[in-house]
Amino acid sequence: MSHSSPHSTDPATGTRAEDFLPINGTDFIEFYVGDAVQAAYFYQSAFGFQRKAYKGLETGSRECTSILLEQGKIRFLLTSAQEPDSYVAEHVRLHGDGVRDIALWVDDAVYSFNETVARGATAVSEPEVLQDENGKIVRASIATYGDTIHTFVQRNEYSGAFMPGYVSQSNSRWAPEDTGLQYIDHCVGNVYVGEMDKYAAFYADVMGFRNLLSFDDKDISTEYSALMSKVMANGNDRIKFPINEPATGRKKSQIEEYLDFYRGQGCQHVAMATNNIIETVTELRSRGVNFLTVPSSYYDALTDRVGEIDEELTALGELGILVDRDDEGYLLQIFTKPVQTRPTMFYEIIQRKGAKSFGKGNFQALFESIEREQALRGNL
Ligand code: FE2
Repeated sequence: MSHSSPHSTDPATGTRAEDFLPINGTDFIEFYVGDAVQAAYFYQSAFGFQRKAYKGLETGSRECTSILLEQGKIRFLLTSAQEPDSYVAEHVRLHGDGVRDIALWVDDAVYSFNETVARGATAVSEPEVLQDENGKIVRASIATYGDTIHTFVQRNEYSGAFMPGYVSQSNSRWAPEDTGLQYIDHCVGNVYVGEMDKYAAFYADVMGFRNLLSFDDKDISTEYSALMSKVMANGNDRIKFPINEPATGRKKSQIEEYLDFYRGQGCQHVAMATNNIIETVTELRSRGVNFLTVPSSYYDALTDRVGEIDEELTALGELGILVDRDDEGYLLQIFTKPVQTRPTMFYEIIQRKGAKSFGKGNFQALFESIEREQALRGNL
């Protein structure tokens, strides 16, 4: 998987001259969960996702049940096992509820699979064509960190709700209002100490991504714990995958806590974008979503740090929304507490106003908040 010639990058746009793996966007994120029916109820009622498609016993799927939810351009696929000895059951037993598949929407799944495997990717599922009366889907999967995979999905000749094998469920009797979530901004992976560079190289060499930003333990460090991170992005920047590894601190870092409880490497958080973070977070809070909070002193120092912004500081402070600025603008962000029994996966809600970065200026305040939660769990 060696690569002899460096990629030529246009410094103005950051777009590479030759992008050997064109990706249109995130196709779906699949979660393996203890019970897809109950997880779907959580994502519908708390986050405002809409039910779109289903497969299960009624459709002839004997091994597992999958429910497809949508909001904006975001698709979540929730899958749980019927068979106790199925791979889905094994995954949930080991990891708890978590992300199995960050699926990528491509124009040519066979080509994407062949090119990445030729560059060193581990094949998980060979290309297959799925067909029904609505057309065909071509899909193939490769491995990334831990038990997480990337499925390449080609859907240009498909007009159905999701994929062959699923029935449309768009006429649900009960459909809570959406909460303004629009698209997946980025998905973060946690990997073992010493493996960040290996996975950054995987995304660069095998998938043609480039290193957008890096953080080391001088950027992201508290008295107790620290992490290092490299943000990898594809040619058109629609796919952004920060990769974290723990750095040494006096006490257990939040990344180590994740790795311990997930029993391995995996997806730490999914960031979902909104056009109006105040409205979105107000709605999410009213529906019971729990967010990390920062001390009110954070807002006293905010204007000095980020300058003038459009939003009312009082509203941001009441909701606990964080702000950071870079050369191109600013961003607003907030993080949920973990959304399952184990202290593993959580969500970020983000609104970008020009900024293309990830909130480095908030890391200190945020990590102190995370550590307060870790201490309550007895894991610091
Ligand atoms: Fe993030």
